[in-house]
Amino acid sequence: MLVLGIETSCDETGVALFDTQAGLLGHTLFSQVAMHAEYGGVVPELASRDHVRRLLPLTLQLLLQTGRALGDIDGIAYTQGPGLAGALLVGASVAASLGFALGVPVIGLHHLEGHLLSPLLTAPAPRFPFVALLVSGGHTQLMRVGAVGDYELLGETVDDAAGEAFDKTAKLLGLPYPGGPALAKIADSGNPKRFKLPRPMIASGDLNFSFSGLKTAALTLANRENATSQTKADIAAAFQQAIVEVLVAKSADAVSSTGLDQLVVAGGVGANRLLRKTLEQKANAEGFEVFYPPLDLCTDNGAMIAYAGAQRLEAGIIRTRGFSVRPRWELDELRRPATA
Ligand code: KG4
Ligand code: ZN
Repeated sequence: MLVLGIETSCDETGVALFDTQAGLLGHTLFSQVAMHAEYGGVVPELASRDHVRRLLPLTLQLLLQTGRALGDIDGIAYTQGPGLAGALLVGASVAASLGFALGVPVIGLHHLEGHLLSPLLTAPAPRFPFVALLVSGGHTQLMRVGAVGDYELLGETVDDAAGEAFDKTAKLLGLPYPGGPALAKIADSGNPKRFKLPRPMIASGDLNFSFSGLKTAALTLANRENATSQTKADIAAAFQQAIVEVLVAKSADAVSSTGLDQLVVAGGVGANRLLRKTLEQKANAEGFEVFYPPLDLCTDNGAMIAYAGAQRLEAGIIRTRGFSVRPRWELDELRRPATA
């Protein structure tokens, strides 16, 4: 079965072709980062318009690249939510009309399910069940993943997401959007020990997170200290160290409390090198395995949607009639019978 995946939930237009026999045939992506950078964040209306401009040319480019024709496609998966309503509608309407024209099934997917299953695109892949740490710009969650569609929320952030905290702290340090990679870059030349920042909720006894206080603590430091570039790098390094320590401690707690021995890390913050290194050390010390998607599939992309869609279509789960989007949508709602 050949599945076309379409991702347009935020500021990346992604398309991919996944074949259930041959694997991922190809994926193409257009990032709007440069366009939004001027405004210091994503402008929803500009995002929607750009998805309209990019989606069809990218799909044609993907077909050319993979040597496939539209008529070869057996099913289409698109990101139904959560995300920006207008941006989601672009993917949803292209998927629905293409599906209608080709006479193939169309399925709307949860964006986080795409991220969650994306490490299964690597070899060796994790085996069900596993614990997943989802760390993106909008979410920070620990889940128990029993199978495709079986997601149990173990803990989540009570305020900002980890990526959001990276982005906001980067902004107050005067770094360009998107802040996460920019902050991580200057942190490389900083001393993480010069400033001591809190490790919020590290001993809370549950699997929840809180990151907004950390961002405020970094702001207080930035206002108090003379903002030389070395000081900024030191604050960035202290911030990154604090956030990584909390993510690693809670992930290890989730692994031990579920009795599982595999941790899957997904979402944009999963690209962070210090997070990867620290998790690796913890995993070696505590005897569990860590899996990541390939680096280019950590942030938003069409491959994860094509893959998750193929799993669902192959299992005969087709939920979408007509087309609809769900800008707000909790992942554990997938366990309940779908109404959309
Ligand atoms: O998963 P993603 O591409 O989009 C969402 O669904 O949110 O994640 C984007 C987030 C942004 O907050 C970005 O700053 C963060 O991931 N990010 C990073 C790094 N690369 C991306 N944060 C820290 N270190 C990185 N290297
Ligand atoms: Zn994402």
